[in-house]
Amino acid sequence: MTVRRAYIRSVGRFLPERRLTNSDLEKMVNTNDEWIVSRTGIRERRILDPGRGNSYMAVRAARECLERAGVEPAEVDAIIVGTVTPDMMFPATACLVQKELGASRAWGFDLSAGCSGFIFSLSTGAQMIESGRYENVLVIGSDVMSSIIDYEDRNTCVLFGDAAGAVLLQPCPEEGYGILDFIQRIDGAGGEFLHMKAGGSLRPASHETVDKKEHYVYQEGKHVFKYAVTEMANVSVKILEDNGLKGEDVALFIPHQANLRIIEACASRMGIDRSKIIINIDRYANTTAGTIPLCLYEALVEQKRIGKGDYLVTAAFGAGFTWGSALIRWWQE
Ligand code: UT7
Repeated sequence: MTVRRAYIRSVGRFLPERRLTNSDLEKMVNTNDEWIVSRTGIRERRILDPGRGNSYMAVRAARECLERAGVEPAEVDAIIVGTVTPDMMFPATACLVQKELGASRAWGFDLSAGCSGFIFSLSTGAQMIESGRYENVLVIGSDVMSSIIDYEDRNTCVLFGDAAGAVLLQPCPEEGYGILDFIQRIDGAGGEFLHMKAGGSLRPASHETVDKKEHYVYQEGKHVFKYAVTEMANVSVKILEDNGLKGEDVALFIPHQANLRIIEACASRMGIDRSKIIINIDRYANTTAGTIPLCLYEALVEQKRIGKGDYLVTAAFGAGFTWGSALIRWWQE
């Protein structure tokens, strides 16, 4: 019996034009370029114009992705949007994207998994293809982090940016290729170290929550760092072991871009040379669910570094805690 697997047919992205550089931030909070670059690897980030929401970016990334594939919006069966910054609490951003794209046959939903939002959405979309019920699943990672960042808090405001990336999943035409495996984990005990305190049903928005700045990202960075560096590497090493592969077999490592030190530690544990890591944290910072599709876009479209049969490993760690990895063997005509 042949195994039905999903493969990534095409990619798209949206990057806001406005840049916020480290030197801009030096004028806003008590920070400096040297600290930001040495501790994180970030030099600048993109910021979406006020008055625009997540779906503005998600739709544009999705449109490019469909156009590259030559697939009409009406052919899309399902839309998954990985995000923690939807346009609004409800309806889901997936519904707004569906309407704007004109994806008349599609259903869909948002998936909230912090910085693992894209990996969890990718594995969910892959399983929908594997089920045999769907032919075209659009997976989008999109976050407007600037909408939930306190630009007076130097601990967090230097770390994040805005962007969206999209991939189209289809059934893989050839056996042995496509999205081969994934690992997903959560540990709610990590919630206290990275969260937004108010705005949900537990603490609805009030004058008090606004005065206390509870609608912004709260992060205890050092603690998150310790977990991220260990657990992201654990699942990246495990997915190789589970599939009988070694670091040297991997053509490209596509990690979530939260901190250059986490990325390098993870690649080193996997035995992957630095030249095989896709890194763009310097230009876009941490775009939460956007990072991995942005990296994939860069490797595939801009650098043309991915070819048929290449093994790619992708991994992420984020709020929840949530973390995971995926193993892809690239298929193309
Ligand atoms: O993607 C979602 C998951 N998130 C992550 O993976 C983030 C993980 N964490 C990190 O990447 C790092 O912990 C940070 C980049 C957030 C912070 O780096 P760190 O090396 O852990 O620094 P720290 O938080 O321990 O702070 C060291 C010092 C502190 O000063 P004192 O207490 O030593 O005097 C901070 O107040 O650096 C200070 N500091 C800053 N200084 C200049 C914190 N932020 C800044 C800043 N500019 N922007």
